[in-house]
Amino acid sequence: MSRPESAALIRNRYFDGLSATPGLYWLGQNTNHIESHPAVREAMLRSIEAGEFNAYAPPLGFEALRSAIVTDLGTPDAEALVTEGGVNALAMICRARCKPGTTLVTPDPTWKWPCLFARQQGAEVIEIPIYDPACNYRLTAEVLKAHVDERTAIIYLVDPNNPLGIRYSREEIESFAAIARDCGALLVHDCTYRDFADGHTPALHLALEGAVVSMSFSKWLGLAGLRIGALVAAPGLFDELAQTSTSVLGASVVAQRAAQAGLAVKTEWMTKVRGIDRANKAMIREATASIEGLALPIFPSHGNFLVLETVAAGIRPEALVECYRRQGIMIRQGTYHTQRFGDRFVKVSTSVPSNWVEKFCTLLPEMGAQARTLNDLPPQF
Ligand SMILES: Cc1ncc(COP(=O)(O)O)c(C=O)c1O
Repeated sequence: MSRPESAALIRNRYFDGLSATPGLYWLGQNTNHIESHPAVREAMLRSIEAGEFNAYAPPLGFEALRSAIVTDLGTPDAEALVTEGGVNALAMICRARCKPGTTLVTPDPTWKWPCLFARQQGAEVIEIPIYDPACNYRLTAEVLKAHVDERTAIIYLVDPNNPLGIRYSREEIESFAAIARDCGALLVHDCTYRDFADGHTPALHLALEGAVVSMSFSKWLGLAGLRIGALVAAPGLFDELAQTSTSVLGASVVAQRAAQAGLAVKTEWMTKVRGIDRANKAMIREATASIEGLALPIFPSHGNFLVLETVAAGIRPEALVECYRRQGIMIRQGTYHTQRFGDRFVKVSTSVPSNWVEKFCTLLPEMGAQARTLNDLPPQF
């Protein structure tokens, strides 16, 4: 008798199926599919040709990269720890600070994996609803204050927020940092999407001691499959977090060379990427306007993605995702981010070649019509 498939295997085969789809248009994970900068490709090729991958990297990252990261963030007094993706920086932070009897407080929607890491440590997760035009889809200091107390170990803030695309002002970050300080919590400022924002203040600029920044090379630089990110913190906190690291043999050598080359051409690269990203957002805005009930609650988004609200158009997000999947296009159902609000929206990534978004827009009326009648859906993740 064959063994029933575990949830983990079903999930894996879902993503494996997407990876195996020839020419899939990846519009669901905020990844960046614009052709890499030549300097980044060359850095990787040089590293491969030199066989650098035969050796381990230093455990905290190459010194040149660590230094380039803190320079880029404008935090010369902090230290960077290079990790296998931003996700592992966040896992490390949760492991260091969360335990039974503590809480992790975060807006809803948020990025769900740190919530899982906190629960794995026995902490309670408190989600503060912000999907509401009445609060401009953002957390306020007043509401945050009402949800923290002496149990709060971490305030986890994704800024710009994924999936909403709002970003916080310097004053707002300052007030969140003060609340964290007053209740003895660590402010974890997830800055994964900061390079797509108009104006952004890393919490370390305002509260060097009480905050940690997590960052990623997956989105702005397009290195998602290489798994490279970092955490940045003041020296004392950095030492504490480095002790809980499981990346004791360092992150990918080739990825680090690519990251360093990317930081060296960042201004030129992001000017190009943001130009394409903006034009793609405008295209989606126009296509959305032609379908009754479909809405873009937050425009412009400060991330490389847009939330498309489907609820008033009578479209179930999962049905729309499945219709597009059948056309070789991946978009993301809202329930990936939030149980509470997930039935209202899908998310579409915009740092992709413009012909991908053109196809998405051309298909939108037909996909919307099909989705309204589609009921039998395979699981989505
Ligand atoms: C808010 C947020 N943080 C972190 C990450 C993870 O980034 P990485 O690919 O560097 O692990 C993501 C990826 O989607 C994200 O959306």
